[in-house]
Amino acid sequence: MATIINGKELALSLKQEMAANVATFTEKYGRVPHLVVILVGEDPGSVSYVTGKAKASEEVGLKNTTIRKPDTISEEELLGIIDELNNDDTVDGILVQLPLPKHIDTDKVIAAIKAEKDVDGFHPMNVANLWLKQPCTLPCTPKGIIKLLKRAGVEIAGKEVVVVGRSNIVGLPVSKLLLNENATVTIAHSRTRDLGEVTRRADILVVAIGRAKFITADMVKEGAVVIDVGVNRDPESKKLCGDVDFAAIEPKVSAITPVPGGVGPMTITCLMENTIECFLRKMER
Ligand code: GUN
Repeated sequence: MATIINGKELALSLKQEMAANVATFTEKYGRVPHLVVILVGEDPGSVSYVTGKAKASEEVGLKNTTIRKPDTISEEELLGIIDELNNDDTVDGILVQLPLPKHIDTDKVIAAIKAEKDVDGFHPMNVANLWLKQPCTLPCTPKGIIKLLKRAGVEIAGKEVVVVGRSNIVGLPVSKLLLNENATVTIAHSRTRDLGEVTRRADILVVAIGRAKFITADMVKEGAVVIDVGVNRDPESKKLCGDVDFAAIEPKVSAITPVPGGVGPMTITCLMENTIECFLRKMER
């Protein structure tokens, strides 16, 4: 029987700690940290994430403003909104929910956010500082994964880690964070030859490819630790499911994150933490 790594529970206890801290800052600085989320369009996944971010902000005691714009918004107008928020001293964190409509250049939008207010850790300056091991805002999902592994008591140093997926949001940054923890890291992806042969080497397997139940039991080593970043709809049951076939893999591994209730709640919690960090850096400058 595997240990089920409970992200929901850890997220709740971290949010409670943060709420207590936020109450203290409010006394000290006279206001609470303020996160602004920009949502373009009505993609159901994005709407649900943005709602979750607003709810978590409330739980932690942060001010949250959600700016909703239609998917016909021009790039120029979106950049104008970001410029205003960059120059607004009452705004500590800015997040543009991705994906953006095709007519908008996502890289340009991300780079337009002031690095000090980039709570996603996606700005080129934050990405560079992550790879240079300099102080920076860490992307939320990778940060949450490291916290989950540590809380579950998983030793990372010296382990064979395989990350499946090479996105800027998860695969690449989590690989760097695991390398910083002294793991031996392999990054596998859609073009990897004999993926199963590679994933079976993993003591710790991190999967972020966005394909329902893509990792099957035969692709996982006995006793491995499995971190499932996927949030998909099972084409048959229509229920939420991860990138790994949980029911088939759970009996074989030592620990595994569920979907939902694993990595997801930690991502939002780390966003709250990043917003507080941006606020404190500003107040203490
Ligand atoms: N869309 C999916 N994940 C994320 C995320 O972590 N941040 C933003 N801004 N958009 C996303």
